Amino acid sequence: MDDTLLPGVLLLKIGVFDSGLGGLLIARSIIHELPDHDCLYLGDTARVPYGTRSKETIYTFTHQAVDYLFRHDCELIIVACNTASADALRRIQQEYLPTHYPDRRVLGVLIPAAEAAVEATAEEAVFGVLATQATVTSAAFVREITKLRPDAQIVQQAAPLLVPLIEMGGVKFARPIIDEYVAPLKTAGVSTLILGCTHYPVVRDMIQDAMGPEVRIVDQNDVVPGKLRDYLRRHPEIDGPIARTGRHVFQVTDFTHSAEAFARQLFPEGIELQTIPGLG
Ligand code: DGL
Repeated sequence: MDDTLLPGVLLLKIGVFDSGLGGLLIARSIIHELPDHDCLYLGDTARVPYGTRSKETIYTFTHQAVDYLFRHDCELIIVACNTASADALRRIQQEYLPTHYPDRRVLGVLIPAAEAAVEATAEEAVFGVLATQATVTSAAFVREITKLRPDAQIVQQAAPLLVPLIEMGGVKFARPIIDEYVAPLKTAGVSTLILGCTHYPVVRDMIQDAMGPEVRIVDQNDVVPGKLRDYLRRHPEIDGPIARTGRHVFQVTDFTHSAEAFARQLFPEGIELQTIPGLG
């Protein structure tokens, strides 16, 4: 890929990483908010799902993905995957970044969602988190919400069947499974529910319906782009070098029939996915 227009002029980008294709929704929302900023999406479709894997494996995979995006001239990377944000981001920020790319940044999606949930929720309310098993086990959302509201009541629920079901085009079978998953959240009186996984916005209406109309749903697609814009405004040293040619490239590590069908479901208008060799 030719990344220079003029010799010696590097066109830096915003990188968006997800374990698979669910993060395309976040990428699309970011592109909608910042249409001129160049953007490179990477979905590790060869190894999705991450949410059922160990913390060490999630770190290794995320580290490889972040490294790939930096080698392909990303100035700033958004880890759109909640599982990777929960299990790998802090270590990448603290250990890898300072020694390898001290002037670049990696940001996750948990903190923006936790902030939005707390901003929108009254003191006595109960927070719910629906996420992958790895994200729930990490308790990362609980940590972030508690930092902002120390005495918050938080109920987490893992929804391991939803990612494979959505990826395989099985949305029409999802309702009874969603009913099972949300039952403990309803019993606990949750009034603000964070969709803590890239894929769940695909079934947001079903989740809203199952929880009831009075429950506030926090969808990262509504939150992350605005928070990113604010971040870039506050950090001109990061924003300044990012190219504004409106070039958006979407890459995946494997392109299967189900990936194609899922991409078509997310982007009925069509999207060009480039396949790159695996990251490992
Ligand atoms: N992208 C993951 C997340 O947001 C869901 C898919 C997976 O398990 O890898 O947690």
